[in-house]
Amino acid sequence: MTDGPRFSELRNFRELAGSFGSVAAEYDRGRPGYPEELFDELERLWGRGLKGARVLDVGAGTGIATRLLAARGADVVAVEPSAGMAAQFQAVSPQLPVVRGGGDELPFHDHSADLVTYAQAFHWTHPDRSVPEAVRVLRPGGALAAWWNVFDETVPWVRARDERLAAELSGRYHGYGRIAELTAPFAAAGLTVHRAVLRWQRRVPLDQVVDNLTSRSFFASLTPERREPLLAAERAALLAEFPDGLVVEPYVLDLTVAVTRS
Ligand SMILES: C[S@@+](CC[C@H](N)C(=O)[O-])C[C@H]1O[C@@H](n2cnc3c(N)ncnc32)[C@H](O)[C@@H]1O
Repeated sequence: MTDGPRFSELRNFRELAGSFGSVAAEYDRGRPGYPEELFDELERLWGRGLKGARVLDVGAGTGIATRLLAARGADVVAVEPSAGMAAQFQAVSPQLPVVRGGGDELPFHDHSADLVTYAQAFHWTHPDRSVPEAVRVLRPGGALAAWWNVFDETVPWVRARDERLAAELSGRYHGYGRIAELTAPFAAAGLTVHRAVLRWQRRVPLDQVVDNLTSRSFFASLTPERREPLLAAERAALLAEFPDGLVVEPYVLDLTVAVTRS
């Protein structure tokens, strides 16, 4: 697991949240989706199926998770604060509803949803506001689910890249480490918390991996003069590791499901 900022240090880190809009296209091209096992596991931990469930997908971005939730039969509404990300969402998935808003103030009535999801997004919210908001909009027995795809640092080339980036971008570079700390507010709010960790990988062209890096908030917030040489160096390092230009990207997927009282 990458070593992320301490929860108490997340204030400056959240200022990066606005950087996504400028890299929405790279985000949609480069970021990984989520395997079916994630949704199987979510249903198992929640004890209910997604089919027909009213789901609010908070921090939906370009809709990567929203589309998968819809494909599982959920009645899903995306919630996204960034104009750039919401525009990309609408361009890619015009059939799905997206509402401009954030997790700290959900634009929905009390008891109007069965599930609130945060796919790589809960850490951008303020838990002292976002957790009570989720509880407010959930129906009895509803749940919130937060998950993060973390690069698997047990794989040597991933660890070497993280160490390079940490050295180059100290103070900016972060992973999604300390997930147990990030999700501690769920138990503190009296919810019943379940957690699962899945490993998976994808084999994708090198350009997609570079788009993935470009869309990370710590790269998106750099000036082009600073960003481009770093990306070129990372491209060269990837090519040395995967000469055929096809990269096997290994992930650890960390899922927390917090259930309200029935
Ligand atoms: C890493 S992206 C995740 C996007 C998508 N859920 C996915 O799985 O690819 C994080 C998203 O959270 C959004 N975001 C930032 N601050 C937020 C907040 N306070 N509440 C909800 N979403 C927020 C960002 O604009 C961005 O689209």
